[in-house]
Amino acid sequence: MNIRSKLPNTGTTIFTIMSQMAKDQGAINLSQGFPGFDADSVLLDLVAKYIKLGHNQYAPMSGIESLRKNLAIKTEKCYGFLPDYQEEVTIVSGATEALFAAISTVIRPGDEALILEPAYDSYEPAIILNGGIPIHISLNEADFSVNWDRIKSAVSFKTKLIVVNSPHNPTGYVWTAEDLKILADLIRDRNIFVVSDEVYEHITFDGRAHLSLLGNEELRKKTFVCGSFGKTFHVTGWKVGYCIAPKELTKEFRKIHQFLTFSTVTPIQFALAEYLENPDHYQSIQEFYEKKRNLFLEGLKQTKLKFSTTQGSFFQMASYGHLSKISDQKLAELMCKKLKVACIPVSSFYHNGTDNQFIRFCFAKEERELEEAMNRLLRLEEIL
Ligand SMILES: Cc1ncc(COP(=O)(O)O)c(C=O)c1O
Repeated sequence: MNIRSKLPNTGTTIFTIMSQMAKDQGAINLSQGFPGFDADSVLLDLVAKYIKLGHNQYAPMSGIESLRKNLAIKTEKCYGFLPDYQEEVTIVSGATEALFAAISTVIRPGDEALILEPAYDSYEPAIILNGGIPIHISLNEADFSVNWDRIKSAVSFKTKLIVVNSPHNPTGYVWTAEDLKILADLIRDRNIFVVSDEVYEHITFDGRAHLSLLGNEELRKKTFVCGSFGKTFHVTGWKVGYCIAPKELTKEFRKIHQFLTFSTVTPIQFALAEYLENPDHYQSIQEFYEKKRNLFLEGLKQTKLKFSTTQGSFFQMASYGHLSKISDQKLAELMCKKLKVACIPVSSFYHNGTDNQFIRFCFAKEERELEEAMNRLLRLEEIL
């Protein structure tokens, strides 16, 4: 038998490789983007409660009503827009599913989709599997803001989709009102959709607000907003997320979701629905992570690495080009093996492996772990 790969260039992801290396080396794992602490016990108890109450069979395809309703209310509180929970909100198995189904909803063979690099790794395969053509556009090298000139010159009659990710993984860039305005102007008279990956919506810093595309009356008419309860509530292993999109788009989106997973884990949906009733549970996330970020940066400042303070997400990038010319992959490996601190080489966020000598740290970890990791990085020069 001869299987012809549909994703010939896809191997094991760098996140799996670095997490495994961290495990093998007994290193502090600041590589993969998952919290190193447990969720609120209130939420954990709610899941146990709903399992015991017998909510253990298939949930409705679009998600249980109370979760869709409470998510719609939360959306209005945060972004001033109340989606119709019956026809515009769908609960899915993680933002990964939302992204895949949303991209599949709009991309047909030959369509072009713009991805801003460095980029999270799940957009490109979804585009390719639907016969689309990913067009990679680099963010501005200096500060990772959006390079609109590059985007404008890449847009053509073939462009069907732009993938937005704010707060951005891995750079931490947070889209501004100006970015949204330019995007709205750009797609106004064009048949271009937007998939907006907003999984870090509650993690922005220094008084910066997350500007959801749902808060923009014009943009939300063409946008699938993808979110993740796993990221927001420190339960990435639960894989529960959502997609909010206009009625006509949601109708098509649900046809795909129906045959990808059909429905999402029932007792967790009930638990999340009740948990969302208290806005503190999501309004406190920002402060929680800002404290961690500040502590992490205190340590990072003592090292020889250079960085610009992250604006959002639980990632911080750092550069080392002034210290050594080794590749970022090699540095990540040396750091893991010799200093026992795992990070992600940022070249893996580029389709062609562009290496600008950056590494990415995840600071969603216990404080003592962050402090110890930064202590170890004081010896960075010894390994270069
Ligand atoms: C930018 C971005 N989008 C989507 C996801 C996936 O979210 P989920 O775990 O809910 O599928 C991640 C996870 O790392 C991410 O960083």
